Amino acid sequence: MPFIKKEAAPASVPEHVAIIMDGNGRWAKKRGLPRTAGHREGAKTLRRIIRDLDSFGVKYATFYCFSTENWSRSEEEVSSLMKLLEDNLDDLVNYKDENIRLRFIGGRERLSENLVKKMENGEKNSVGHTGMTVTLAINYGGRDEIVRTAQKTARLALDGKIAPEDITEELFGRELRADGVPDVDLMIRTGGELRLSNFLIWENSYAELYFTDTLWCDFSKKDLEAALAEFSRRSRRFGDAK
Ligand code: IPE
Ligand code: IPE
Ligand code: MG
Repeated sequence: MPFIKKEAAPASVPEHVAIIMDGNGRWAKKRGLPRTAGHREGAKTLRRIIRDLDSFGVKYATFYCFSTENWSRSEEEVSSLMKLLEDNLDDLVNYKDENIRLRFIGGRERLSENLVKKMENGEKNSVGHTGMTVTLAINYGGRDEIVRTAQKTARLALDGKIAPEDITEELFGRELRADGVPDVDLMIRTGGELRLSNFLIWENSYAELYFTDTLWCDFSKKDLEAALAEFSRRSRRFGDAK
């Protein structure tokens, strides 16, 4: 019996939406602005879209903020992206007033002490919240996440807590995503590229993929509605022949 055994029922509102927020640099370039201006505008879109997702009844939302590959950008762009996160984390996700549960994925060892502290506070202060769960992926790589989980499960086996045969898709998946966040139902990428760019490799395994040319800064509630409408028209068979 495969582990992916969801009901092959008509899709309605996706439980978990993941978004690759791409196109900030091009948005800025079109206006003759520096790339960093695009990232600042993109942060505003993030705030809006969190509220919109919540209003549509989505329970989990995961956003790609900074990839393990993004370190290869200029020092200036990397530090301005990091500063944007540091300075605005509390505002980016208004978890205090909106009952949102905030969490983070990605390696923390390369991030500044200040940013890590803010992330930990955000997680701690929103732990009892019962609204939408918002996950921000910072210094995140899908392969990195899988490798870290392999290390964790190898450690469990070495310590005698599990046998190697106990490492099933179910156990591995549980170790990979803390807090019981489910697999992605709908993966949206703005900015026109047709790829995953190392985002949620495990969790996107059976996601419906939605690509739009709209740049992230221009992504509106209407655009989100169109993505959700498209999702509701998809037939999710999970390998079944129905
Ligand atoms: C996405 O926008 C934001 C991050 C990767 C941090 P880009 O900065 O990749 O914008 P484009 O793709 O160059 O337009
Ligand atoms: C993916 O966008 C990463 C984030 C949105 C944070 P990129 O712009 O970095 O991806 P590529 O370079 O087009 O694959
Ligand atoms: Mg890009």
